[in-house]
Amino acid sequence: MRNLELEQLETAWAGKTCLCFDSMESTQNYGKELGKKEPVHGTLILAEEQTAGRGRRGRSWQSEKGANIAMSLCLEPKLRTEHAAGLTLVMALAVAEGIKKVTGREPQIKWPNDIVLNGRKICGILTEMCFKDGGYIVVIGVGINVNNTGFPEDIKGTASSLKLETGAEISREALIASVMECFENYYEIYEQTEDLALLKEQYESMLANKNREVNVLDPKEPYKGTAKGINSAGNLIVVCEDGTEKEVYSGEVSVRGIYGYV
Ligand code: BTN
Repeated sequence: MRNLELEQLETAWAGKTCLCFDSMESTQNYGKELGKKEPVHGTLILAEEQTAGRGRRGRSWQSEKGANIAMSLCLEPKLRTEHAAGLTLVMALAVAEGIKKVTGREPQIKWPNDIVLNGRKICGILTEMCFKDGGYIVVIGVGINVNNTGFPEDIKGTASSLKLETGAEISREALIASVMECFENYYEIYEQTEDLALLKEQYESMLANKNREVNVLDPKEPYKGTAKGINSAGNLIVVCEDGTEKEVYSGEVSVRGIYGYV
């Protein structure tokens, strides 16, 4: 393990402590264990390779060694615990904005927290919480496909990388610094209201699903509708075919486009 100082990083706390590993199981697991033992607010864990990278909904996360970004940001929020879930959308916004600043391209957010470029997923985010004496920690894991050019068969059709989409090799350090700067700024805005009220407009301006037809894969009863935007809690507002409005909570269901991934 080495302490990495990101040269371009201009933050007060996010990523200021940056622990970089050549190979480890999962930066999420490491972040959670570390957070139980010591103060970790703003600590960033990076790995060149994960041997057991985890995705959402129990899936695994594969990433080519040395080409991409696998990182977990540890937080000890002063927010009420029920307000911490919105931080996953805050990170989505920070990643999308960070990518825009570094590449000049216009990534979008597939609700709640996948980042897509030209309709293909280039980043996934996994947010986990655990309790420690007197409080709790939140670990936000970010996997960005930066410079890899090949994908496993099962995700070939929907995944891509920044290099494939832009044709250029992207500096991982510059991108990490940019994401941390954007996150710190948005986090401090989120703290003011403990919700997305002040970030909603910006989030919606990048929302790939906005005004598009979606399939809401509710395990009880899937339905179709048109995504209108988010509310300040970060739930997706969907107008159903019969005109009724529903709030979709990300922990319960996933949403797919009618004609494809977005
Ligand atoms: C998803 O399913 O879209 C979320 C993927 C999250 C992957 C990242 S890579 C860094 C961190 N460590 C993990 O084991 N997972 C997250």
